[in-house]
Amino acid sequence: MEKPSKIAPARGKLGVLLPGMGAVSTTFMAGVELVRKGKAQPVGSLTQMGTIRLGKRTEGRTPLIKKFVPLADLKDLTFAGWDIFKDNAYQSAANAGVLNPQDLEKVKPFLSTIKPMKAAFDHDFVKLIDGPNIKKGKNKYELALQIKEDIANFRKTSRVSRLVTCWCGSTESFVKPEEVHSTPEKFVEAMKSNHPAIAPSMLYAWASVTSGVPYANGSPNLSVDIPAIQTLAHEHNVAICGKDFKTGQTLLKTVLAPAFKARMLGLDGWFSTNILGNRDGEVLEDPGSFKTKEESKLSVLEYILQPQLYPQLYGKMCHKVRINYYPPRGDNKEGWDNIDIFGWLGYPMQIKVDFLCRDSILAAPIVLDLILFLDLAQRAGMRGIQEWLSFYFKSPMTAPGLYPEHDLFIQSMKLKNTLRWMKGEDLITHLGQEYYD
Ligand SMILES: NC(=O)c1ccc[n+]([C@@H]2O[C@H](COP(=O)([O-])OP(=O)(O)OC[C@H]3O[C@@H](n4cnc5c(N)ncnc54)[C@H](O)[C@@H]3O)[C@@H](O)[C@H]2O)c1
Repeated sequence: MEKPSKIAPARGKLGVLLPGMGAVSTTFMAGVELVRKGKAQPVGSLTQMGTIRLGKRTEGRTPLIKKFVPLADLKDLTFAGWDIFKDNAYQSAANAGVLNPQDLEKVKPFLSTIKPMKAAFDHDFVKLIDGPNIKKGKNKYELALQIKEDIANFRKTSRVSRLVTCWCGSTESFVKPEEVHSTPEKFVEAMKSNHPAIAPSMLYAWASVTSGVPYANGSPNLSVDIPAIQTLAHEHNVAICGKDFKTGQTLLKTVLAPAFKARMLGLDGWFSTNILGNRDGEVLEDPGSFKTKEESKLSVLEYILQPQLYPQLYGKMCHKVRINYYPPRGDNKEGWDNIDIFGWLGYPMQIKVDFLCRDSILAAPIVLDLILFLDLAQRAGMRGIQEWLSFYFKSPMTAPGLYPEHDLFIQSMKLKNTLRWMKGEDLITHLGQEYYD
């Protein structure tokens, strides 16, 4: 890909489209409004709080990222979403129970105005929930066209100059890429014949991309990660990325595993278990949805530790992931990791991690960053898979034949170097020999 010759300014309003208005979406929208009102800080957001070093360490140039690249201002964000339930964003946020009532009260008038559009839903893909706010159509193609109409209407009525979609809907049942996902033509035929391998999230992805709207996928289901939609992203010059927000347990895994590998410490096994009680946890009780999540969570260690290159250290590791729905905890997940490592002469050691985290509090700033960075990429003319946004995902999308980069610090360097590259600054290699001449 060539370096962008120019980046169009972030002029006008940016419309944010959210399929799925549950815990993550509403925590994100409420948070943006609290920050806009000066009542909270955007903690966890690289676009809002992060800096970037430019040039040599001696130059002292470290601007805020949002001053270095032209990102949309928070005041220009305006929101719309779809859900199978009719609750507005305030009611949904109250149900999700992530933010306390005092915080929600401060943004009640704003959240109450955001009412979900009717969802394209298929119970076969999310078996444990059902709702009344659902589109009707002869086939999946008709549903996808209705989503396109929703997008066009929102564009017109909210007078936005640009749009970005971020899938924050439930995790769908596991589907493998098939022939029907291979080309745009086969994909349209399959929508028309109601093929069982076309999931609702793919309809949103197809509608967004063919409307020229960038699309991020926050869940582990395929959605935009199929050749048909990737081809369309190129044809329509649209930026896309996914899959599955990297928030709690996997975030720590992609910090710890690179440390073991860097020091050539061995790994016998890694057992990860979770308890959570939100709607996401309920959906993951279904074996189909759990399998999608499990695949996403499991792939990380194989790629980071490269057992094929280090069979003595990682050839026999046992990696297990469990997720248990436990209602009393709500959105406050607890993730335990038992890690069996070994050191010099093979002597065993153990590490225990107990992360009492808040799922949606960790996910909300990721949604914000993805929206702002995808909009930036779009204005810079960068189309197709945005691998530099791997930093935010458990299963980063890559070009065919490329293995994904999971190490958080490599991902962070890739992201910042991409920003430097977009702006014509020198890339930073951390070599540093020039300081000793
Ligand atoms: N919170 C995290 O830390 C985290 C991390 C990684 C991934 N995710 C993923 O993000 C997604 C959202 O998580 P959440 O905690 O907000 O879940 P949630 O259950 O609170 O919200 C999901 C919403 O999507 C709606 N929905 C389902 N199918 C839909 C469809 N076809 N169209 C429109 N709406 C639909 C549901 O009704 C629900 O309100 C999930 O897929 C989850 O796996 C979350």
